[in-house]
Amino acid sequence: MKKNTKLYETAAALLASGKGILAADESDATAGKRLDMVRLDNTPENRQDFRELLFTAPDLEKYISGVILYDSTLREAADDGTPFADLLTSKGIVPGIKVDTGTKELHGFKGEVVSQGLDDLDKRFDEYYDLGARFAKWRAVITIDEEETPTEQSLRMNAIQLARYAQLAQAAGIVPMVEPEVIFEGDHSLERAEMVTTKTLQILFQTLIEYRVDLQGLILKSSMVLAGSKYREQSTPQQVAQATLRTFHMSVPYDCAGIVFLSGGQASQRSTDNLNAVGKMGAQPWPITYSFSRALEEPFLHAWGGKKENAAAAQKVLVDVCAENSLAAQGKL
Ligand code: 13P
Repeated sequence: MKKNTKLYETAAALLASGKGILAADESDATAGKRLDMVRLDNTPENRQDFRELLFTAPDLEKYISGVILYDSTLREAADDGTPFADLLTSKGIVPGIKVDTGTKELHGFKGEVVSQGLDDLDKRFDEYYDLGARFAKWRAVITIDEEETPTEQSLRMNAIQLARYAQLAQAAGIVPMVEPEVIFEGDHSLERAEMVTTKTLQILFQTLIEYRVDLQGLILKSSMVLAGSKYREQSTPQQVAQATLRTFHMSVPYDCAGIVFLSGGQASQRSTDNLNAVGKMGAQPWPITYSFSRALEEPFLHAWGGKKENAAAAQKVLVDVCAENSLAAQGKL
Protein backbone atom coordinates (compact mmCIF):
# COMPACT_ATOMS: atom_id res chain seq x y z
CA MET A 1 0.00 0.00 0.00
CA LYS A 2 2.95 2.30 0.63
CA LYS A 3 3.63 2.43 -3.10
CA ASN A 4 0.09 3.62 -3.78
CA THR A 5 0.53 6.73 -1.64
CA LYS A 6 3.27 7.71 -4.08
CA LEU A 7 0.90 7.04 -6.98
CA TYR A 8 -1.71 9.33 -5.46
CA GLU A 9 0.88 12.06 -4.97
CA THR A 10 2.01 11.79 -8.59
CA ALA A 11 -1.57 11.84 -9.85
CA ALA A 12 -2.35 14.89 -7.72
CA ALA A 13 0.73 16.71 -9.04
CA LEU A 14 -0.26 15.93 -12.63
CA LEU A 15 -3.82 17.12 -12.08
CA ALA A 16 -2.92 20.31 -10.18
CA SER A 17 -5.44 23.06 -10.83
CA GLY A 18 -4.45 25.53 -13.54
CA LYS A 19 -2.10 23.10 -15.28
CA GLY A 20 -2.19 20.56 -18.10
CA ILE A 21 -0.01 17.88 -19.65
CA LEU A 22 2.04 18.14 -22.83
CA ALA A 23 1.97 14.97 -24.93
CA ALA A 24 5.35 15.07 -26.70
CA ASP A 25 5.35 11.30 -27.15
CA GLU A 26 5.28 10.98 -30.91
CA SER A 27 7.13 7.95 -32.17
CA ASP A 28 10.23 8.80 -34.20
CA ALA A 29 8.19 8.35 -37.40
CA THR A 30 5.36 10.63 -36.23
CA ALA A 31 7.85 13.23 -34.98
CA GLY A 32 8.98 13.30 -38.61
CA LYS A 33 5.50 14.48 -39.63
CA ARG A 34 5.79 17.39 -37.17
CA LEU A 35 9.25 18.29 -38.48
CA ASP A 36 7.98 18.06 -42.02
CA MET A 37 5.59 20.92 -41.23
CA VAL A 38 8.66 23.15 -40.89
CA ARG A 39 10.55 21.40 -43.70
CA LEU A 40 13.15 19.83 -41.42
CA ASP A 41 14.46 16.34 -42.08
CA ASN A 42 13.52 13.62 -39.61
CA THR A 43 16.99 13.18 -38.11
CA PRO A 44 17.77 12.42 -34.44
CA GLU A 45 19.40 15.88 -34.18
CA ASN A 46 16.30 17.70 -35.43
CA ARG A 47 14.04 15.66 -33.15
CA GLN A 48 16.30 16.49 -30.22
CA ASP A 49 16.28 20.22 -31.12
CA PHE A 50 12.50 20.21 -31.36
CA ARG A 51 12.08 18.55 -27.95
CA GLU A 52 14.77 20.66 -26.28
CA LEU A 53 13.03 23.85 -27.40
CA LEU A 54 9.71 22.59 -26.04
CA PHE A 55 11.08 21.48 -22.66
CA THR A 56 13.29 24.51 -22.01
CA ALA A 57 10.59 27.07 -22.81
CA PRO A 58 10.78 29.64 -19.99
CA ASP A 59 7.86 29.39 -17.53
CA LEU A 60 6.50 26.19 -19.08
CA GLU A 61 6.22 24.76 -15.55
CA LYS A 62 3.68 27.42 -14.60
CA TYR A 63 1.13 25.73 -16.86
CA ILE A 64 2.45 22.24 -17.54
CA SER A 65 2.51 19.59 -14.80
CA GLY A 66 3.73 16.65 -16.88
CA VAL A 67 5.22 15.77 -20.25
CA ILE A 68 4.69 12.41 -21.97
CA LEU A 69 7.82 11.20 -23.74
CA TYR A 70 8.56 8.48 -26.26
CA ASP A 71 11.11 5.76 -25.48
CA SER A 72 13.91 7.38 -27.52
CA THR A 73 13.21 10.85 -26.04
CA LEU A 74 13.34 9.54 -22.47
CA ARG A 75 16.87 8.35 -23.29
CA GLU A 76 17.94 11.68 -24.82
CA ALA A 77 19.56 14.71 -23.25
CA ALA A 78 19.69 18.45 -23.78
CA ASP A 79 22.76 19.95 -25.51
CA ASP A 80 24.42 20.48 -22.12
CA GLY A 81 24.15 16.75 -21.34
CA THR A 82 21.23 16.92 -18.88
CA PRO A 83 18.85 14.01 -19.60
CA PHE A 84 15.44 15.34 -20.64
CA ALA A 85 13.77 13.53 -17.72
CA ASP A 86 16.10 15.28 -15.23
CA LEU A 87 15.62 18.61 -16.95
CA LEU A 88 11.83 18.30 -16.61
CA THR A 89 11.98 17.01 -13.03
CA SER A 90 14.22 19.93 -12.02
CA LYS A 91 11.50 22.29 -13.29
CA GLY A 92 8.85 20.47 -11.22
CA ILE A 93 7.38 18.80 -14.31
CA VAL A 94 6.65 15.05 -14.05
CA PRO A 95 8.15 12.98 -16.90
CA GLY A 96 5.92 10.32 -18.40
CA ILE A 97 6.39 7.58 -20.96
CA LYS A 98 4.22 6.19 -23.75
CA VAL A 99 4.49 2.41 -23.54
CA ASP A 100 2.21 0.86 -26.15
CA THR A 101 4.04 0.10 -29.36
CA GLY A 102 1.26 0.87 -31.82
CA THR A 103 -1.69 -1.08 -33.13
CA LYS A 104 -2.24 -4.27 -35.08
CA GLU A 105 -5.32 -5.48 -36.89
CA LEU A 106 -7.79 -7.44 -34.76
CA HIS A 107 -8.07 -10.45 -36.98
CA GLY A 108 -11.61 -11.16 -38.14
CA PHE A 109 -12.84 -7.68 -37.21
CA LYS A 110 -12.55 -5.48 -40.27
CA GLY A 111 -10.97 -2.11 -39.57
CA GLU A 112 -10.58 -2.70 -35.83
CA VAL A 113 -7.25 -2.74 -34.06
CA VAL A 114 -5.67 -3.71 -30.78
CA SER A 115 -2.58 -2.13 -29.23
CA GLN A 116 0.70 -3.97 -28.77
CA GLY A 117 3.39 -3.75 -26.10
CA LEU A 118 2.55 -5.96 -23.12
CA ASP A 119 5.49 -8.35 -23.61
CA ASP A 120 8.18 -7.63 -21.01
CA LEU A 121 6.34 -4.49 -19.97
CA ASP A 122 7.19 -5.19 -16.31
CA LYS A 123 10.90 -5.03 -17.15
CA ARG A 124 10.44 -1.94 -19.30
CA PHE A 125 8.58 -0.24 -16.45
CA ASP A 126 11.44 -0.91 -14.04
CA GLU A 127 13.85 0.67 -16.49
CA TYR A 128 11.55 3.63 -17.21
CA TYR A 129 11.21 4.23 -13.47
CA ASP A 130 15.01 4.30 -13.14
CA LEU A 131 15.17 6.74 -16.05
CA GLY A 132 12.79 9.05 -14.15
CA ALA A 133 9.32 8.32 -15.55
CA ARG A 134 6.54 8.49 -12.96
CA PHE A 135 3.49 8.13 -15.20
CA ALA A 136 2.75 6.27 -18.41
CA LYS A 137 0.33 6.26 -21.31
CA TRP A 138 -1.21 3.40 -23.29
CA ARG A 139 -3.36 4.34 -26.26
CA ALA A 140 -6.09 2.14 -27.67
CA VAL A 141 -7.72 3.19 -30.93
CA ILE A 142 -11.49 2.98 -31.36
CA THR A 143 -12.95 3.89 -34.73
CA ILE A 144 -16.58 4.58 -35.41
CA ASP A 145 -17.84 3.17 -38.68
CA GLU A 146 -21.02 1.53 -39.97
CA GLU A 147 -23.53 0.11 -37.49
CA GLU A 148 -21.22 -2.64 -36.24
CA THR A 149 -18.03 -0.78 -35.44
CA PRO A 150 -16.72 -0.66 -32.80
CA THR A 151 -17.73 -4.18 -31.83
CA GLU A 152 -18.15 -5.15 -28.21
CA GLN A 153 -15.38 -7.74 -28.75
CA SER A 154 -12.81 -5.12 -29.76
CA LEU A 155 -13.82 -2.86 -26.87
CA ARG A 156 -13.37 -5.76 -24.44
CA MET A 157 -10.05 -6.83 -25.92
CA ASN A 158 -8.67 -3.29 -25.70
CA ALA A 159 -10.05 -2.87 -22.17
CA ILE A 160 -8.29 -6.04 -20.98
CA GLN A 161 -5.00 -4.86 -22.44
CA LEU A 162 -5.45 -1.46 -20.80
CA ALA A 163 -6.19 -3.16 -17.48
CA ARG A 164 -3.13 -5.39 -17.69
CA TYR A 165 -0.96 -2.39 -18.58
CA ALA A 166 -2.44 -0.40 -15.69
CA GLN A 167 -1.73 -3.23 -13.23
CA LEU A 168 1.89 -3.46 -14.33
CA ALA A 169 2.33 0.33 -14.16
CA GLN A 170 0.96 0.53 -10.62
CA ALA A 171 3.09 -2.41 -9.49
CA ALA A 172 6.13 -0.46 -10.72
CA GLY A 173 5.12 2.75 -8.90
CA ILE A 174 4.04 4.47 -12.12
CA VAL A 175 0.66 6.18 -12.58
CA PRO A 176 -1.16 4.69 -15.57
CA MET A 177 -2.94 7.01 -17.94
CA VAL A 178 -5.44 4.90 -19.89
CA GLU A 179 -6.30 6.33 -23.29
CA PRO A 180 -9.08 4.76 -25.32
CA GLU A 181 -9.05 7.30 -28.18
CA VAL A 182 -12.38 7.41 -29.99
CA ILE A 183 -11.32 8.68 -33.40
CA PHE A 184 -12.79 11.98 -34.58
CA GLU A 185 -12.41 11.32 -38.34
CA GLY A 186 -15.59 9.96 -39.85
CA ASP A 187 -19.14 10.95 -40.72
CA HIS A 188 -20.84 9.92 -37.48
CA SER A 189 -23.21 12.17 -35.54
CA LEU A 190 -22.59 13.64 -32.10
CA GLU A 191 -25.17 11.20 -30.67
CA ARG A 192 -23.30 8.23 -32.11
CA ALA A 193 -20.00 9.51 -30.73
CA GLU A 194 -21.63 9.89 -27.32
CA MET A 195 -23.04 6.36 -27.41
CA VAL A 196 -19.75 4.82 -28.49
CA THR A 197 -17.63 6.79 -26.01
CA THR A 198 -19.99 5.94 -23.15
CA LYS A 199 -19.89 2.23 -24.00
CA THR A 200 -16.10 2.29 -24.43
CA LEU A 201 -15.59 3.91 -21.03
CA GLN A 202 -18.16 1.72 -19.27
CA ILE A 203 -16.48 -1.45 -20.51
CA LEU A 204 -13.05 -0.03 -19.69
CA PHE A 205 -13.87 0.91 -16.09
CA GLN A 206 -15.75 -2.34 -15.44
CA THR A 207 -12.64 -4.20 -16.60
CA LEU A 208 -10.26 -2.03 -14.58
CA ILE A 209 -12.33 -2.72 -11.47
CA GLU A 210 -12.55 -6.46 -12.19
CA TYR A 211 -8.76 -6.58 -12.46
CA ARG A 212 -8.36 -4.62 -9.20
CA VAL A 213 -6.65 -1.59 -10.63
CA ASP A 214 -6.57 1.20 -8.06
CA LEU A 215 -8.62 3.95 -9.70
CA GLN A 216 -7.36 6.57 -7.26
CA GLY A 217 -3.95 6.10 -8.81
CA LEU A 218 -5.13 6.17 -12.43
CA ILE A 219 -5.86 8.95 -14.94
CA LEU A 220 -8.28 8.64 -17.85
CA LYS A 221 -7.18 10.26 -21.10
CA SER A 222 -10.31 10.70 -23.19
CA SER A 223 -11.48 12.11 -26.46
CA MET A 224 -13.99 14.94 -26.28
CA VAL A 225 -17.36 13.78 -27.58
CA LEU A 226 -17.63 15.33 -31.05
CA ALA A 227 -19.56 14.74 -34.24
CA GLY A 228 -17.25 13.13 -36.83
CA SER A 229 -15.00 15.44 -38.86
CA LYS A 230 -17.05 14.72 -42.01
CA TYR A 231 -20.49 14.92 -40.43
CA ARG A 232 -22.76 17.54 -42.02
CA GLU A 233 -23.09 19.53 -38.82
CA GLN A 234 -20.17 20.30 -36.53
CA SER A 235 -20.90 20.40 -32.81
CA THR A 236 -20.80 23.68 -30.89
CA PRO A 237 -18.58 23.92 -27.78
CA GLN A 238 -21.68 23.80 -25.59
CA GLN A 239 -22.96 20.64 -27.26
CA VAL A 240 -19.52 19.08 -26.94
CA ALA A 241 -19.30 19.97 -23.26
CA GLN A 242 -22.76 18.62 -22.47
CA ALA A 243 -22.29 15.36 -24.38
CA THR A 244 -18.81 14.85 -22.93
CA LEU A 245 -19.84 15.41 -19.34
CA ARG A 246 -22.95 13.24 -19.73
CA THR A 247 -20.64 10.50 -21.00
CA PHE A 248 -18.25 10.85 -18.06
CA HIS A 249 -21.07 10.86 -15.51
CA MET A 250 -22.46 7.66 -17.05
CA SER A 251 -19.15 5.82 -17.05
CA VAL A 252 -16.29 7.18 -14.93
CA PRO A 253 -16.32 6.17 -11.23
CA TYR A 254 -15.89 9.09 -8.87
CA ASP A 255 -12.73 7.63 -7.35
CA CYS A 256 -10.80 7.88 -10.64
CA ALA A 257 -7.99 10.39 -9.97
CA GLY A 258 -8.87 12.61 -12.90
CA ILE A 259 -9.55 13.04 -16.58
CA VAL A 260 -7.45 14.69 -19.30
CA PHE A 261 -8.37 15.34 -22.91
CA LEU A 262 -6.49 14.59 -26.08
CA SER A 263 -7.01 17.09 -28.92
CA GLY A 264 -7.52 14.39 -31.54
CA GLY A 265 -6.76 16.43 -34.64
CA GLN A 266 -9.14 19.30 -33.91
CA ALA A 267 -7.76 22.73 -34.78
CA SER A 268 -5.87 24.15 -31.84
CA GLN A 269 -8.38 26.94 -31.13
CA ARG A 270 -11.30 24.54 -31.33
CA SER A 271 -9.77 22.24 -28.73
CA THR A 272 -9.33 25.24 -26.45
CA ASP A 273 -12.91 26.48 -27.01
CA ASN A 274 -14.33 23.04 -26.29
CA LEU A 275 -12.18 22.66 -23.18
CA ASN A 276 -13.35 26.08 -21.99
CA ALA A 277 -16.99 25.05 -22.47
CA VAL A 278 -16.34 21.96 -20.30
CA GLY A 279 -14.65 24.18 -17.69
CA LYS A 280 -17.64 26.54 -17.70
CA MET A 281 -19.94 23.69 -16.68
CA GLY A 282 -18.42 24.04 -13.20
CA ALA A 283 -16.79 21.67 -10.72
CA GLN A 284 -17.09 17.95 -11.49
CA PRO A 285 -16.36 14.88 -9.33
CA TRP A 286 -12.91 14.60 -10.96
CA PRO A 287 -10.29 17.18 -11.88
CA ILE A 288 -10.46 17.67 -15.67
CA THR A 289 -7.71 19.23 -17.77
CA TYR A 290 -5.87 18.85 -21.09
CA SER A 291 -3.14 16.55 -22.36
CA PHE A 292 -2.77 17.82 -25.91
CA SER A 293 -0.08 17.11 -28.42
CA ARG A 294 -0.94 18.64 -31.79
CA ALA A 295 -3.03 21.49 -30.31
CA LEU A 296 0.02 22.67 -28.30
CA GLU A 297 2.82 21.79 -30.71
CA GLU A 298 1.40 23.06 -33.97
CA PRO A 299 1.26 26.77 -32.98
CA PHE A 300 4.84 26.37 -31.72
CA LEU A 301 5.98 24.72 -34.96
CA HIS A 302 4.43 27.44 -37.12
CA ALA A 303 6.18 30.15 -35.09
CA TRP A 304 9.49 28.28 -35.11
CA GLY A 305 9.68 27.34 -38.77
CA GLY A 306 12.80 25.33 -37.93
CA LYS A 307 14.86 28.54 -37.66
CA LYS A 308 17.24 29.36 -34.81
CA GLU A 309 16.33 33.05 -34.87
CA ASN A 310 12.66 32.21 -34.19
CA ALA A 311 13.32 29.85 -31.26
CA ALA A 312 12.64 32.27 -28.39
CA ALA A 313 9.49 33.67 -30.00
CA ALA A 314 8.22 30.14 -30.69
CA GLN A 315 8.84 29.10 -27.06
CA LYS A 316 6.76 32.09 -26.01
CA VAL A 317 3.96 31.00 -28.36
CA LEU A 318 4.04 27.53 -26.77
CA VAL A 319 3.82 28.89 -23.24
CA ASP A 320 1.04 31.33 -24.23
CA VAL A 321 -0.98 28.45 -25.73
CA CYS A 322 -0.45 26.39 -22.56
CA ALA A 323 -1.50 29.38 -20.43
CA GLU A 324 -4.65 29.81 -22.51
CA ASN A 325 -5.56 26.14 -22.21
CA SER A 326 -4.93 26.23 -18.48
CA LEU A 327 -7.46 29.07 -18.23
CA ALA A 328 -9.83 27.14 -20.50
CA ALA A 329 -9.65 24.06 -18.24
CA GLN A 330 -11.07 26.30 -15.52
CA GLY A 331 -13.69 27.82 -17.83
CA LYS A 332 -12.05 31.20 -17.51
CA LEU A 333 -11.85 32.30 -21.17
P1 13P B 1 -3.41 14.87 -29.75
O1 13P B 1 -3.70 15.93 -28.73
O2 13P B 1 -2.61 15.37 -30.92
O3 13P B 1 -4.62 14.10 -30.14
O4 13P B 1 -2.44 13.84 -29.07
C1 13P B 1 -2.70 13.40 -27.79
C2 13P B 1 -2.23 12.03 -27.64
O5 13P B 1 -1.53 11.75 -26.70
C3 13P B 1 -2.66 11.02 -28.62
O6 13P B 1 -2.25 9.76 -28.21
